[in-house]
Amino acid sequence: MDKIQVLFQPFRLKSLELKNRIVMAPMTRSFSPGGVPASNVADYYVRRAEDEVGLIVSEGTVVNRPASSNDPDIPHFYGEKPLSGWKAVIDRVHAAGGLMAPQLWHMGVVAPKDTGWLPLAPFEGPSGYVAPGRIGGVAMTESDIAGTIQAFAQAAAESKALGFDAVEIHGAHGYLIDQFFWHPTNQRTDGYGGRTLAERARFAVELIRAVRKAVGPDFPIGLRISQWKLQDFAARLATTPQEMEAWLVPLVGAGVDIFHCSQRRFWEPEFTGSDLNFAGWAKKLTGKSTITVGSIGLSGDFLNAFQGESSTPSALDELLRRYDRGDFDLVAVGRALLADAGWAQKIHEGRSGELVGFNKEALASLL
Ligand SMILES: Cc1cc2nc3c(=O)[nH]c(=O)nc-3n(C[C@H](O)[C@H](O)[C@H](O)COP(=O)(O)O)c2cc1C
Repeated sequence: MDKIQVLFQPFRLKSLELKNRIVMAPMTRSFSPGGVPASNVADYYVRRAEDEVGLIVSEGTVVNRPASSNDPDIPHFYGEKPLSGWKAVIDRVHAAGGLMAPQLWHMGVVAPKDTGWLPLAPFEGPSGYVAPGRIGGVAMTESDIAGTIQAFAQAAAESKALGFDAVEIHGAHGYLIDQFFWHPTNQRTDGYGGRTLAERARFAVELIRAVRKAVGPDFPIGLRISQWKLQDFAARLATTPQEMEAWLVPLVGAGVDIFHCSQRRFWEPEFTGSDLNFAGWAKKLTGKSTITVGSIGLSGDFLNAFQGESSTPSALDELLRRYDRGDFDLVAVGRALLADAGWAQKIHEGRSGELVGFNKEALASLL
């Protein structure tokens, strides 16, 4: 059997039955004016469903808080029109044979976009910091925190009601939930702050618990996490396996079924003394399923891609070596699938000569 076929084995997690191990990574596209995903957005996801992607994770879609977004073209996951847009997306993805989870998002304190557009309320986060030492919004009150947890729970309930197959909570990359995890942006002195990562995880634990309550025991909940932040690519939350365990195990207790461990390059070891990557450690420490991600099938990483660097297709041998060892269950692919809806099918059928790579121009439209 061609080695790649191992990625085309089914995967089961509670009510979710995937036909293969390929996940489309969540990618913000900003093609939903007024927060409403229309038929062009549905068409884009349907093309991936038709071409064998096992699980599509949507672009980040924001929850119902006055300042959960800095961009009016990013889809909402609340309100009648956006939700009926999402209903059409999931119905059409299902009709095309695909499965899909929305990625629920609150940006926290972020810089405004170049357009100058601002939400109706100030950006909110644990302590108002947009980056270490730099205030860019307000510190959330306990009632803001409760309202935000409620907004995530509501969105998760909507995703199940609309017919989505799972839900992913965006806890990575320096946005709201990660701002609570990260000490430089979480300087709170109440029960949501603290000296240790485990203490600063309380917000996420309560949020996941509320999401679990909203969706019931069988609906899969994913949590995306990262060490790196957009504010600091070299940042690390957990510096030892012990810290990682103290961070993740309570999140499992709260209801996480699968950790989506975001790295820029999947082959980079997480701690010295072992070549296990982030997803490998998360799986080893929690016993839960994990998704790996980061430059799969491409020569360059995604932050360099934003600087204009093109990436060419690259071999999957190292990915398969780690997968065969049982380091992770699923593999998420970002830019390669953004640029080419047919990526999964091409690798399945061994048509590697037809892979197209990625360059920044692919971002200009929904291919
Ligand atoms: C255009 C673009 C938008 C992205 N938006 C999101 C997002 O909304 N949520 C998220 O968790 N990650 C986002 N990411 C990160 C990707 O999910 C992924 O982790 C990253 O691109 C690395 O995978 P790749 O090397 O296969 O592209 C985005 C990446 C790109 C290129």
